[in-house]
Amino acid sequence: MNLWKYYAITHRDHVVCNPMSTAKLDELMERLRLPSGARVLEIASGKGEFLIRLAERYDIVGIGVDQSPYCVADARARLRSRVPKARLTFVEMDGAAYRPDEPADFHLAACIGAGWIFGGHQGTLRALERLAAPGGWVVAGEPYWRQEPAAEYLAAIGEARTAFGTHHENATAGRDLGLELAYTLVSSPDDWDRYEGRQWYAAEAWAREQPDDPDVAEVLQRVRAEKAAYLQWGRETLGWAIYLFRKAEGEG
Ligand SMILES: C[S@@+](CC[C@H](N)C(=O)[O-])C[C@H]1O[C@@H](n2cnc3c(N)ncnc32)[C@H](O)[C@@H]1O
Repeated sequence: MNLWKYYAITHRDHVVCNPMSTAKLDELMERLRLPSGARVLEIASGKGEFLIRLAERYDIVGIGVDQSPYCVADARARLRSRVPKARLTFVEMDGAAYRPDEPADFHLAACIGAGWIFGGHQGTLRALERLAAPGGWVVAGEPYWRQEPAAEYLAAIGEARTAFGTHHENATAGRDLGLELAYTLVSSPDDWDRYEGRQWYAAEAWAREQPDDPDVAEVLQRVRAEKAAYLQWGRETLGWAIYLFRKAEGEG
């Protein structure tokens, strides 16, 4: 089935499509202290919640890039209803192909929960570092191994051990790029449970509401397999954090 449709079904109840609480996200936004007119880019902007919350707090000029037509439509609807006068644009395209008008021009460049677009955490930081202005922020949200993953878990989720680092590896991955870690937000097991549980709940509810949809069996099979893997291994094995880095001044 269409990947974006699956994602839209499982995430229809999510405000933020990653395992961070909105309270912690708000704390991060507070720390950013963006100047008026700050230029902000988010690759994989999902439903636009990060940019829209930023626009509710700061006078920013923002662009969100996401490949899912469902997410982009949702983000544009939220923009119209929450901050219609904000200078935000949501673009539907592959984030890997996004090229800015000006290089190294953003006060904040973010990619939260889609590191695969750039081949993992290190590649994401490299790409965001090039997009951020000297002295600007780089924000990356990424899973991390809380413990060595069981081979059965890796097989169940279709990932390699090398797909993610430890929290320490993620937090220090910016060093060689001139990115200084300024702050981390780490999801609690409760945050993760809510993120995962909302997906199971949404998929089961959707299947009851749309019994004739041709994708019902596949959606349920997939979400139940993900639920089983999370409960058996993922909950103890995989963590989630958002890493806030400051790009060095004077580099561009
Ligand atoms: C885990 S969600 C995170 C969304 C958002 N950053 C948030 O935290 O709410 C991953 C997002 O990546 C988007 N995505 C996946 N592959 C992409 C690509 N190649 N280019 C742009 N967006 C992509 C999905 O549509 C989805 O919105």
